[in-house]
Amino acid sequence: MSTFHYENDRLMVENLPVEEIVAKEGSPLYIYSREALVERISSYREAFSAHPTLVAYAMKANGNLAILSLLGQEGAGIDVVSGGELFRARKAGIPGNKIVFAGVGKTEEEIAYALKEGILMFNVESQAELDHISAVAVRMGTKAPVALRVNPDVDPKTHPYISTGMKKSKFGIPVDVAVAEYRRASTLPGIRIVGIHQHIGSQLTEIAPFRDAFERLLAFHGELRKAGIKVTHLDLGGGLGIRYRNEAPPSPKDLADLVLPRVGDLGVTLVLEPGRSIVGNAGILVTRVLYRKQTAVKTFFIGDAGMNDLLRPSLYGAHHDLLPVLRSVRPEVKGDLVGPICETGDFLATDREMPDFAAGDLIAVMSAGAYGFSMASNYNARPRPAEVLVDGNTYRVIRDRESFEDLVRGERI
Ligand code: LLP
Repeated sequence: MSTFHYENDRLMVENLPVEEIVAKEGSPLYIYSREALVERISSYREAFSAHPTLVAYAMKANGNLAILSLLGQEGAGIDVVSGGELFRARKAGIPGNKIVFAGVGKTEEEIAYALKEGILMFNVESQAELDHISAVAVRMGTKAPVALRVNPDVDPKTHPYISTGMKKSKFGIPVDVAVAEYRRASTLPGIRIVGIHQHIGSQLTEIAPFRDAFERLLAFHGELRKAGIKVTHLDLGGGLGIRYRNEAPPSPKDLADLVLPRVGDLGVTLVLEPGRSIVGNAGILVTRVLYRKQTAVKTFFIGDAGMNDLLRPSLYGAHHDLLPVLRSVRPEVKGDLVGPICETGDFLATDREMPDFAAGDLIAVMSAGAYGFSMASNYNARPRPAEVLVDGNTYRVIRDRESFEDLVRGERI
């Protein structure tokens, strides 16, 4: 049985009807499935079980403490990109030595904090940053463990906003100067070289870009060896896509089949940084229809969730399937599901065939577990939704709905 399914025309998450959860917790509401999360993290663990591998879940996809803690219990480490994310990871009980720290703009405070927490490695994105990390480490009387993020110049064939491994991108150190940069790193007093890092983009639905990038990584690893520089970790980044509509993305097993036969004798631990492929299809956003509005040219369903709750459709033109929480015999219409925000770009779906919903109906916006709540904002002074985690026949609120008081916390007149 799949995690999200219908029973007597009621949409269920595991064994619970969505309608009943929303009746108690209100809408809009993020609902996650524990079973789906465990299944996804296990699929990585099992696929890579033949080789020492750290699955460092990229918490930018969803940083809720309960989710981090659950994944941590399943053996995952965490990929963080800010001091705040590091704080969340530690709060959730993830040990420092299972945390990797990426991002092009780490501040002095963040570097010092990460050194104090004894993280596994910094994924370094530029020469200037490398020098900065070394200087901070020296001041603290220690050496910073690093991997240089090598930009392989591979087109991941995904949305341009989430392509990161091409020459023109701001990420990483160009592969043609990276050996020289490793040489320089090996002479810096505050640096201990640990690994090589690579990440080419997100929502990759083909294996070919992974293959190209991995080939380049292996070639680069060979060059480093020749230069007398040893690493203990190869970090392949994240990026495996998920099915939003009809994509057929590679699985963790496909990735393992590509990678494992080639790393057996390199003496390295693999690090993976999946985000979306762990949480994306483990969560939904439920919105209630407030009004149906017919104009001369359009049918609008105005829901209580907007772009501040789920930004992906507005920002990337992303597709999320819509499912009725109660299946009934409504005719199909072509309509837009929009939010209450004062922007024309505030939509969750446009020109979509969907049931002719009426006010009061609940709609599940599918595949919303990744980059949903984590990209939510308070725009238009809207409190962010609650989050709940379903486990079999029960659920827990893992984040309270924000209140108006939450909105003004820290402000003064
Ligand atoms: N590692 C690094 C260094 C990354 O930059 C990212 C994502 C990941 C791992 C995780 O990638 P994933 O496995 O989730 O594809 N907000 C966008 C996605 C931005 C991804 C940014 N980096 C969206 O909603 O599609």
